[in-house]
Amino acid sequence: MKNKIFLFIITIVSLLVFNQCKTEITKTRKKDNFNQNWKFRLGDIENAQKIEYNDNNWRLLNLPHDWSIEGNFSNDHPATPGGGALPGGIGWYRKTFYLSKSDSGKMVFIDFDGIYMNSKVWINDKYLGNRPNGYISFRYDLTPYLKYGDQKNTIAVRVDNSKQPNSRWYSGSGIYRNVWLVITNKTHIDHWGTYITTPEISNESAIIDIQTKIVTNEETIHPIKLLTIVFNNKGKKVGKASSLIDLSIKKSNVISQKITINKPILWSVENPYLYKAISYIQSGNKIIDDYESTFGIRYYEFDSLKGFSLNGKSMKIKGVCNHHDLGCLGTAINTRALERQLEILKEMGCNSIRTSHNPPAPELLNLCDKMGFLVMNEMFDMWKKNKSPFDYSMFWEEWHKQDLKDFILRDRNHPSVIIWSIGNEILEQWDTSGIEMVKKLYEFTHNLDSTRPITTGNNPPSLHNNLTKPMILDLIGFNYAHKEYEKFPETFPGQKFIATETTSSLATRGEYNMPSDSIRRWPYRWDIAFTDGNPDNTCSSYDNCSTPWGSTHQEVWKIIKKHDYLSGMYIWTGFDYLGEPTPYSWPSRSSYFGIIDLAGFPKDIYFMYQSEWTSKDVLHIFPHWNWQEGDTIDVWAYTNYNKAELFLNNVSLGEKEKHGDDIHLTWRVKYKPGTIKVIAQKDGKTNLIKKIKTAEDAKYIKLSADRPEIIANGVDLSFITIDITDKHGTLVPKADNLIEFSIDGPGIIAGVDNGSQTSHESFKANQHKAFNGKCLLVVQSKNKSGEIKIKAKSEGLEIVSISIYSK
Ligand code: GAL
Repeated sequence: MKNKIFLFIITIVSLLVFNQCKTEITKTRKKDNFNQNWKFRLGDIENAQKIEYNDNNWRLLNLPHDWSIEGNFSNDHPATPGGGALPGGIGWYRKTFYLSKSDSGKMVFIDFDGIYMNSKVWINDKYLGNRPNGYISFRYDLTPYLKYGDQKNTIAVRVDNSKQPNSRWYSGSGIYRNVWLVITNKTHIDHWGTYITTPEISNESAIIDIQTKIVTNEETIHPIKLLTIVFNNKGKKVGKASSLIDLSIKKSNVISQKITINKPILWSVENPYLYKAISYIQSGNKIIDDYESTFGIRYYEFDSLKGFSLNGKSMKIKGVCNHHDLGCLGTAINTRALERQLEILKEMGCNSIRTSHNPPAPELLNLCDKMGFLVMNEMFDMWKKNKSPFDYSMFWEEWHKQDLKDFILRDRNHPSVIIWSIGNEILEQWDTSGIEMVKKLYEFTHNLDSTRPITTGNNPPSLHNNLTKPMILDLIGFNYAHKEYEKFPETFPGQKFIATETTSSLATRGEYNMPSDSIRRWPYRWDIAFTDGNPDNTCSSYDNCSTPWGSTHQEVWKIIKKHDYLSGMYIWTGFDYLGEPTPYSWPSRSSYFGIIDLAGFPKDIYFMYQSEWTSKDVLHIFPHWNWQEGDTIDVWAYTNYNKAELFLNNVSLGEKEKHGDDIHLTWRVKYKPGTIKVIAQKDGKTNLIKKIKTAEDAKYIKLSADRPEIIANGVDLSFITIDITDKHGTLVPKADNLIEFSIDGPGIIAGVDNGSQTSHESFKANQHKAFNGKCLLVVQSKNKSGEIKIKAKSEGLEIVSISIYSK
């Protein structure tokens, strides 16, 4: 709705502007979502690119689509559990479409936001090209091969994810991001054709520098005018510039314009204020193109002593690394699913995302711009030397420049993006070939955008590291090695630092190994067989289990928070992801690193960060209270209050107080069933109370929807949490009941999950088991409004239903 109002206002404003200069607004650029009605077939198929190929019996679907997530888990898939233990293979997509006669004489482009991987594209039998990189966005010009009116066009895409392993995490397979059809006039603003920077900012005014690339395919070229108008977030015009352009010599031209904005409102994490620039090309008295760019006005600095500041205000970067899968939805991009992830992280106090280790979906950056997240935007996980047998290193020589260029051009207007990372744990850091490579990549990136610092996530934090050795990187980034951070000012005097990756702590939601103060470093040595884990492949949710190269959450945060020069950290990871199930292997198939599990349920450590990173009143106590009589149980509290008292069945077990750099409070308790209660106090006054009861037998299924109303657009989602409770409503901590779902009304089941790292149940089913008392159902709207009734049943439990509404 807001958008519609915005557009409406813009149209009125534009009309007023153009009326003044007697300009006629004609039909200009069109950008249409091109996701609907594709035909899909798994397997390699001869001649499937041909117009006459008969795809009648192929499956009809809408993009974005990830075929791997529809498969069954198996240790035999070549991706291995490290790649998520799901199938890859080759798949074909075809779509037929018609173009109006009025579009002939225009330029028609197809924009793919990302295809995993190695795609080849044909239009009407004509081969357009291939893109091996599975994360890069790219465009083809369809114009010369198209037919108009009642003649059919056929586009065919072959996706090859058959050579595996090619990824150290779950990649997904297919056209898993959005596709767009863009129609412009022959003279138009190029793809990613604006570059907006804000070189001068004060309270009074900001100078906006806009470079606009105009290209033409006209034979005879008339002088044209570029008119750029800047609107604030209410749609009010706040600045403009106009330039006359002569394209007669060159077929493309970059125009530089400067616009002053008075009393700019700065973009920040707390107030992510966005402006919009609309660039119009005017030929004679006609508008022949209009192109929108969103941007923000902000400045920031990394300082070798003071760390990071945004708009002059010091702040710590409290970031997480994430991979791109969306749990049970696989990698098929869905804006609401991404938004939910960001909402959960924002609630925790997180303010930054590292797009490990590849270009993200454009929607992620749009959301970060809108919601106020800083982004370390990362391009590569490897350069020329491979990490997996069939990874991107195979394509490095031919493709890395093109891909890096496309990545920067696409993303350089986002105010959220504050760091470019040109590599994660690049193997060339270990030999001298890295020296020349880092210099070249740095210069290449810097030439495309000199306004953001460039870094790499490195391993050995020494001057001899071949990537930091040339002293060219703007930010020295290290992964792990937190014990070295305090030596940093001596090792790298005058250099600016970011902890590009930290922690790699391990946890399974709702699992606890005691004693809680004994830290397991699993696997103890990564080069020997791992034998001392839990037989059920779980990891403890006290903050007492980490990889040997990493640390517990508290170990590293205590150091980062202590020193200003440590500008911030990116925890490995915000969410569990499919693949890389360190420390275990099969039957595990997803990671243990997340602060939040794969289904989106916070693990206990989430509340540690919330208590440290927000000013909310936080008291979180754990574990659950269902143990054997006489067991010794450690009760922990994460709170930002100083003191707390624990009661077991109303008998005080003592008050605890934080000392020094303590982050949590612990009580060691002889277990008796009943109720534990913690009362936390601040300054002797304010009280927070939390209780956990011993659960009785499972009796109810409780359904709660994150959004009771969703949009009837065929893509919106409601995430429904299922809790298995006893008759008093207490979560049954070990409940693993099988729940069957049914839906009545205009909705479908988009996915089911429970956050267990070892479950092999399908994510695309109408049933799923609970894990440690919880389960997730994701409901997707159809293109129809109405009541969506969701029913859940499970043997021995009371059937329950709720309704959500699609509008
Ligand atoms: C890092 C790596 C990440 C992930 C992590 C697991 O070394 O950069 O991609 O593999 O280890 O601990």
